[in-house]
Amino acid sequence: MTPVPTPSALRERLAGDLAAARARTLLLTDHDEPELVRQHTPLLSPLVWDLAHIGQQEELWLLRAGDPHRASLLPADVEALYDAFTHPRAGRARLPLLPPVEARGFCSEVRGRVLDRLDRLGDGDDPFDFAMVVSHEQQHDETMLQALNVRTGRPLLGAGSPLPPGRPGLAGTSVLVPGGSFVLGVDPADEPFSLDNERPAHRVDVPAFRIGRVPVTNAEYAEFIADDGYRNSRWWSARGWEHRTSAGLERPQFWGQDGTRTRFGVVEDLPPDEPVQHVTFFEAEAYAAWAGARLPTEVEWEKAAVWDPSAGRRRRFPWGAAEPSPALANLGGTALRPAPVGAYPAGASAYGVEQLVGDVWEWTSSSFEPWPGFRPMLYVDYSAPFFGGDYRVLRGGAWSVGSSIIRPSFRNWDHPIRRQIFSGFRLAWDV
Ligand code: AVJ
Ligand code: FE
Repeated sequence: MTPVPTPSALRERLAGDLAAARARTLLLTDHDEPELVRQHTPLLSPLVWDLAHIGQQEELWLLRAGDPHRASLLPADVEALYDAFTHPRAGRARLPLLPPVEARGFCSEVRGRVLDRLDRLGDGDDPFDFAMVVSHEQQHDETMLQALNVRTGRPLLGAGSPLPPGRPGLAGTSVLVPGGSFVLGVDPADEPFSLDNERPAHRVDVPAFRIGRVPVTNAEYAEFIADDGYRNSRWWSARGWEHRTSAGLERPQFWGQDGTRTRFGVVEDLPPDEPVQHVTFFEAEAYAAWAGARLPTEVEWEKAAVWDPSAGRRRRFPWGAAEPSPALANLGGTALRPAPVGAYPAGASAYGVEQLVGDVWEWTSSSFEPWPGFRPMLYVDYSAPFFGGDYRVLRGGAWSVGSSIIRPSFRNWDHPIRRQIFSGFRLAWDV
């Protein structure tokens, strides 16, 4: 499938991916110290924690071979502050964290040594751990965007970079995915940078289903609200209704009562044709019931995204083999919003499904479980501690995701009540 890059091309690719992730990290943390140490919500870390944690993880996986007993550049008690498992997000601002200048210095010291190691990477060496670290940094860059979005005060980021226009007539339409087996998941031979939970590739049978050609839009979602969808328990699961009531949900997060929304501190009219964002799994599920539909399973989602029924094999991306680009998908985090539906006709899958990659993370009905034959990667606690927990899988990646780390097999997960994430959804139907 993908040609195996020569070691030098591979080194260049990884150096470029590391540099792009770091440029993004530094841009997102280029604020005055009070902004960086501030905890914007108990759900997210202060940015200065993410910053040093990025360096701490890079050092652990790339310079200490994942062995916490090997010495860190940081004193052991300082390094321990950046262990995500021992310090819940809500309490991180109260820790004696490295000040921003020291955190940046640490990250840059680690990066220099990492690039030395990358220079020495030879033919027989597995570059996977470098790609894993790129993915980790990019995922934290996205978390920092979430924090900057919930943050109150004078806007720090602009309005976002331009996006292509949408096409009319797509909202509410669907395509048929005929029944039959397909290859779910990927193997390292085809996707060397895939993370543990995406592996291994295996055949599964999928009964026929229909799936939304595009994600559900703000205008569609507003109809559900106008039809008293938030007041009618019949559309909600028991847990969903309980959460709607106790949390007082009335509309997606960041929506005003007056047809506006707040985005990175800027108040603007709700764009009707943009995929809805900032809904919980429970809201997505209730909307789907109201619309006479359901959410897709993650297996259905992946088949609709990658299966080429005439060739009888997977595509690397919905549109084919080409790497993501601004003509194909809204990724990379600079737009600061999803593109209107229909903005990426060239990004359609073999079945004609659009905007699967980029724009919004899409809730699926699936809980987070390992594929058969799962084996943990070097970062053994990346996935495994979360299997079987109270999580739902999200697919496709949002506008906020680094373009070098997303694949149709990429699996994100979160609690079904979360919505500070850039989450939307598309519908599915039994046939
Ligand atoms: C895959 C987004 C659920 O943020 O908890 C970052 C990514 N893991 N550092 C998370 C992650 C460790 C993870 N998600
Ligand atoms: Fe992390």
